[in-house]
Amino acid sequence: MTTHATTPFDDQKPGTSGLRKQVKVFQQTGYLENFVQAIFDCVPDLRGGTLIVGGDGRYYNDTAIQIILRMAAANGVAKVRVGQGGLLSTPALSNLIRVSNAQGGIILSASHNPGGPNGDFGIKFNGDNGGSAVESVTQAIFERTLEIDSYNEISADDVDLSALGTAHIGDMQIEIVDPVTDYMALMETLFDFDKIKAMISGGFSVCFDGMHAVTGPYAKAAFIQRLGVPAGSLMNVEPSEDFGGGHPDPNPVYAKALFNKMFADDAPDFGAASDGDGDRNIVLGKGLYVSPSDSLAILAANIHLAPGYEEGIVGVARSMPTSRAADLVAKKAGVDLFETPTGWKFFGNLLDAGRITLCGEESAGASSDHAREKDGLWAILAWLNIVAARGMSVKDIVRDHWATYGRHYYSRHDYEALDTAKAQAVMSALEGKLADLPGQSLHGETVSMADSFAYTDSVDGSVSRNQGLRVEFESGSRFVMRLSGTGTVGATLRLYLEKYAPPGEDHDADLQETLKQIAAIADELTDLKAITQRAAPSVMS
Ligand code: G1P
Ligand code: ZN
Repeated sequence: MTTHATTPFDDQKPGTSGLRKQVKVFQQTGYLENFVQAIFDCVPDLRGGTLIVGGDGRYYNDTAIQIILRMAAANGVAKVRVGQGGLLSTPALSNLIRVSNAQGGIILSASHNPGGPNGDFGIKFNGDNGGSAVESVTQAIFERTLEIDSYNEISADDVDLSALGTAHIGDMQIEIVDPVTDYMALMETLFDFDKIKAMISGGFSVCFDGMHAVTGPYAKAAFIQRLGVPAGSLMNVEPSEDFGGGHPDPNPVYAKALFNKMFADDAPDFGAASDGDGDRNIVLGKGLYVSPSDSLAILAANIHLAPGYEEGIVGVARSMPTSRAADLVAKKAGVDLFETPTGWKFFGNLLDAGRITLCGEESAGASSDHAREKDGLWAILAWLNIVAARGMSVKDIVRDHWATYGRHYYSRHDYEALDTAKAQAVMSALEGKLADLPGQSLHGETVSMADSFAYTDSVDGSVSRNQGLRVEFESGSRFVMRLSGTGTVGATLRLYLEKYAPPGEDHDADLQETLKQIAAIADELTDLKAITQRAAPSVMS
């Protein structure tokens, strides 16, 4: 074993999804090693245990995996299972931790952020339940990074990850596994693939955009090999180090080609995409984008149609800024609805305790108790199963949902790459006013509640404060404002707008037009546009 000296780095505090920085930052001497050694120091069960390693294939994935393998061997890990080619989608890695009875996993990804030498890289540790490490562990890892003065590494040649098989570094065994097999086996237990296949062979057309990211191999296995979708219906399914120069974020801006296709006259019946590491999803019908908040609600109302969920749902959780559409489904079904802070890790305790079946976020994330991560392909297959079972188009399913529950018009406005002090000034401006807001009338809307969201975990009692500012109105509308924890350049301010139209009201109005007034109130209360000097958001989704 060789021990190298390292420099502590004070910027290794993981955000909502692990440590995410520009590649250049990760390339600093000892930077990755410092964080990885902190993981081994804080999770002693890894010594003599099994570790899963993989990533979304972005630039630096291979280099990082070789470093982690040498360090794992030096830190006494008995066995590492790595995805072939270094690839594992985030949900597949989560599943591999569980089926391997591993003590944890390291995911290399910056999710939907751009890749390549000038893009971003990231690292995240998941615990033995398959989910992102809980806050106490991530905090311990962070504190450890500040005091570390050396790391352990064995000198060894690079391991060939391109072929399935086994290898060794010192006493540690390395197993190179197919990234798709176990994941597909799990999906087979949840969904009626034969029913979906019959719908597809009956002429139902599907388009999937892999965005040159990790889901390509998974999509080929599910759509082409299992469901008989013609190969030409899949776009961008060859993973590449820089995502083909694109931005693997499935939103109307970065998945423009898919949106154009789905809004064309000859649109396929079903469109979908996933992000860099395969945990996000979007679903479209002919001429319709299903908002992720609506998607969660619709999954909650219909998932019992899939074989793995026949018994119905026990509860639903959504992140606080996600629209309240799912709340109405939970209410009607007589099950609990949990409102958690942004970030997937807050769902873990609820899933482990059997309190919820489904969970989701407005940022295109949904999943169920089958995993401990959001799962892009799972959500897409769930939708296909529901469409096949109901024999209705995506659009008709959405419209039927609104007719039953009402529609939550919803949009997120992102102001990216802001000066951090200015973004904080906007938050402070609103925070200072919260106490006086209830009862005030603004542009015809009366404030019913305003607070800084705090969450008490009903399983372990832990409290998370300052999770975003909420302003609710008597009409059922609201806005939420928070600072992103995943941006890598300056600060990103997110403004979430929501307006409820009950059943029987107009559900076809223009989205941004409908939300204009709430946006104007938010601007007035925060001086957002004046402080940031931005006339419009960078992205509206
Ligand atoms: C964003 C999303 C959040 C998601 C996270 C990780 O975090 O808003 O829902 O869990 O990415 O994918 P944010 O940048 O807002 O902190
Ligand atoms: Zn992701």
